[in-house]
Amino acid sequence: MTVDPKIIVALDFPGADAALHLAKLLDPAQCRVKVGKELFTRAGPVVVEQLQQLGFDVFLDLKYHDIPNTTAQACRAAAELGVWMVNVHALGGRRMMEAAREAIDKATHRPLLIAVTILTSLDAGELHEVGLSGSPEDNVLRLACLAESAGLDGVVCSPQEVVALRETVDDGFRLVTPGVRPAGVVVGDQKRITTPEDAIRFGSNYLVVGRPVTQAENPLAALTDINVAIDIKQVR
Ligand code: C5P
Repeated sequence: MTVDPKIIVALDFPGADAALHLAKLLDPAQCRVKVGKELFTRAGPVVVEQLQQLGFDVFLDLKYHDIPNTTAQACRAAAELGVWMVNVHALGGRRMMEAAREAIDKATHRPLLIAVTILTSLDAGELHEVGLSGSPEDNVLRLACLAESAGLDGVVCSPQEVVALRETVDDGFRLVTPGVRPAGVVVGDQKRITTPEDAIRFGSNYLVVGRPVTQAENPLAALTDINVAIDIKQVR
């Protein structure tokens, strides 16, 4: 029986000290952590190793998007770093995603490989401007199917997309959802939000939560409250 925490706490901090300070207030049995572009660019692989030494699974959120060989080598480096999850842009195409998957399949430690479909910051007008016709949802569904057929393990998606995606992709295909706000918590700059319990009910597998935990007076209590709300029996 292994613990499979559903919450991924986004460590959106400008440096290792702040990220590690916050991580030490949390409990690896209750969450994973996400290292994104800012923290990684400032603190590098060392902070990933330090978080792993504290017992946390790390989602390395660097959204690789490059030619197949370069993306595959980056994914291989992430696998060698021992991360739990890594991601690429589905718009890099089938061959890029397949090369990334083949690279991590060869690794001793295989991370979950997740695709970003359409950035939720893009509206229909901006999509058309870069030559993508159809609605954002059409594009998300098409790219999620492409990622699934390229052998990826899941996609990052907004809570609004979870229901349609769950009807489209296999049950085992992971849906990773940011834009989650517990009831009564400050919404901030997030627009299309869902409560943690609704995101899980709609079919999300993992919830990315940043400020509701990192900016809380008591981060561990805030995290525990979310876990109680989603009421997951944490058994893999
Ligand atoms: O603080 P908050 O809970 O809004 O943080 C959410 C995290 O998820 C941030 O790291 C943000 O970059 C990320 N994210 C998001 N919306 C997306 C994709 C990623 O908020 N569509």
